[in-house]
Amino acid sequence: MAREQAGICAEGNLHGQYLLFDCVEGQEHAIRAQLSEVSHYLDEMTELYSDVAFSAFIAVGANYWDALYPDSRPALLRPFPSLTHGDRHAPACPFDLFIQIRCDRQDINYMVSHEICLMFEDLANLVEELKSFRYLDNRDLTGFVDGTENPKGLHRQEVALVSDDDKEFRGGSYIHIQRYQHDLKKWNNLKVKKQEDIIGRTKQENHEYSSFNKPKTSHIRRTSLKDNQGKSLEILRQSMPYGDMKEQGLFFISCCHTPLNFELMLRSMIVGDNNGHYDHLLKYTQAVTGAAFFAPSMSFLNKKAHQ
Ligand code: HEM
Repeated sequence: MAREQAGICAEGNLHGQYLLFDCVEGQEHAIRAQLSEVSHYLDEMTELYSDVAFSAFIAVGANYWDALYPDSRPALLRPFPSLTHGDRHAPACPFDLFIQIRCDRQDINYMVSHEICLMFEDLANLVEELKSFRYLDNRDLTGFVDGTENPKGLHRQEVALVSDDDKEFRGGSYIHIQRYQHDLKKWNNLKVKKQEDIIGRTKQENHEYSSFNKPKTSHIRRTSLKDNQGKSLEILRQSMPYGDMKEQGLFFISCCHTPLNFELMLRSMIVGDNNGHYDHLLKYTQAVTGAAFFAPSMSFLNKKAHQ
């Protein structure tokens, strides 16, 4: 039975730390072995710090996958779908490895991050690092509750993890990340009603607008999509806010059994429908990075450790 990495479907918690690495060429053999070691170390930390809900996962970049695992590739793994339409952009910045570390204690996230950097010494260079935090009652820094319509309970696994359709990669997950930078000065100058029209929910009470009242340019109208059979297209969002007094935003993370759902949502936000209704949230925030990864199961990482 393929075991997924614990951080993929984890419930939300207080602090996150993200590490993005580029790998040293020619070290693939050592990196395969070390990825398995790191996943075991993260597994131990998950047990040891279960009281503070520790969880983590490692994901391998779509553009780096073939160098690391030349003999097998997840069926749908493809590069980040960079897009530009009008003044809306979704840039792609490929990274080789992405590690999400989360728990309710920032000191433990620090300790684990430090240990991982030591484990990758001489094998990979840390190119970006970011800390995130829970803001108030699960709100994004725009002040709106984020994550309400995320899948719940066991349904999280169904949405986020690859099933038997791709046997070797069962229990893995297609990951997309985007770091969004908010223009909070511009956002906070809007009347609350206008902000609510842009999101499609009320701010304080977090009530969803009725279909009749939901503008076609609202964020939830643009991201709430259905397939040809009328079935909802879902992703599991693990996004968290980040920032300081100079720069603020959302570190967006999507985990899914297919890359298609994220790709369709992003297109719907940026390009919009045939009548030019795009996501007006993008007038107040912009993506400054974007990358696609696959987070394999623990079993896959172990199996490939010494090949
Ligand atoms: C700065 C960037 C973003 C912010 C601040 C943001 C914020 C929010 C908020 C406040 C909600 C409503 C509450 C909820 O159900 O979680 C929401 C819903 C949602 N967002 Fe985002 N989001 C961002 C980017 C994205 C992106 C890039 C995607 C996918 C490409 C996305 C997909 C979704 C989905 C699927 C929902 C649920 C829609 C529904 O069924 O009601 N979001 N987001």
